[in-house]
Amino acid sequence: MREEVFHYRLANPTHREIMSHTNHGRKLNFAPGPSALPLEVLQKAQSEMLNYNGTGVGVMEMSHRSAEFGEIVNRAISNLIDLMSIPPNYKVLFMQGGGTGQFAAVAMNLMRLKPGHTADYFVTGTWSQKAAKEAEKYGKVNYVLPHSKRFQGVPHSNTWNLDDQASYIYFCSNETIHGVEFHDIPRTNSDIPIVADMSSNILTREIDVSKYGLIYFGAQKNVGPAGVTIVIIREDLIGRAMPSTPAVLDYKTIASNNSLFNTPPCYSIYMCGLVFEWLASHGGVAAMGEKSDLKSSLLYEIVDSSRDFYHCTIDKAHRSRVNVTFRIGGANGDEALEKKFLEEAANLHMIQLKGHRSIGGIRASLYNAVPVEHTLKLADFMRDFQRRFGATEC
Ligand SMILES: Cc1ncc(COP(=O)(O)O)c(C=O)c1O
Repeated sequence: MREEVFHYRLANPTHREIMSHTNHGRKLNFAPGPSALPLEVLQKAQSEMLNYNGTGVGVMEMSHRSAEFGEIVNRAISNLIDLMSIPPNYKVLFMQGGGTGQFAAVAMNLMRLKPGHTADYFVTGTWSQKAAKEAEKYGKVNYVLPHSKRFQGVPHSNTWNLDDQASYIYFCSNETIHGVEFHDIPRTNSDIPIVADMSSNILTREIDVSKYGLIYFGAQKNVGPAGVTIVIIREDLIGRAMPSTPAVLDYKTIASNNSLFNTPPCYSIYMCGLVFEWLASHGGVAAMGEKSDLKSSLLYEIVDSSRDFYHCTIDKAHRSRVNVTFRIGGANGDEALEKKFLEEAANLHMIQLKGHRSIGGIRASLYNAVPVEHTLKLADFMRDFQRRFGATEC
């Protein structure tokens, strides 16, 4: 890994070159979502925007019932199946309503799998908390973890309270706001279907899809523009929705219409397809996993060796590889110093580093489209900032 950093250092152009030539004056974008897309994908979309593949119209202007759009959908699905080695007994669905829509859809479709209408929820941050709250409308939510106001990791499995009669077990594999990540599927020793919100870490590491009943993710972090939510669902879990489920949230309706039940977010789906092709041509998910490890470890190493100038509150075992969160000036953060950090970073064209308004501090989102070079620039800046402002704190 160190050799790789060295290689990147050698190949690392000056900041001016990045801004003027290689990157078309684009910023170094560390946004949590919607977030950076690969430049090559944007360029390809640009080249096809006015006239897609000789059709004389752009994808935004095309009927979702046309043969061309049908091919776009099918190609995107089959590329995702290849990238993630999705087994044949799973369906890939393009839906709308975002991650928040899935908070309801999951419960409406799966809560009644077992007579008790209960579901197990791991709450490890804001997003799983919101999902659990929404699910309470449709059944009984069993909170697996001890209640906590501060999300700093995943409590030890000896504290877990699992219900062996649950219809499904739900967790969020990466909490985007707090920066808490499960590095493996929770071991539950049962065959109860596991549902995962992978909105912020999908395609950033290899996973075994066959261990899950359902995986979903909004596109706007690692996959494409906002507007489409992708669901990967085991076929036997389709067709189990409660009768009041709206048709657009019923997995059966969407699956039996190949995601074309009503007008889908056509352009977002097309962009996701381009990102899947880009991922395949850049080493696939395995390569993205290595890149995510490298990028996040560059920043965590600085945090850990900063003698608490930079402070990450998340347990080391559950720190996110895609949302690196930290405070500056000690555990509670010095807001003036954090403001200065953000201002200086912005002057160096590094943007969207502000932590979520609910917790403050700094958050660097390092999704697949964020190059290692950009992370190295941020790492250099963090070191320099500490040299200039850290003396008294250390
Ligand atoms: C992990 C996770 N789940 C769910 C959501 C909610 O997604 P949406 O805003 O698309 O409803 C987000 C939003 O950032 C998220 O990060």
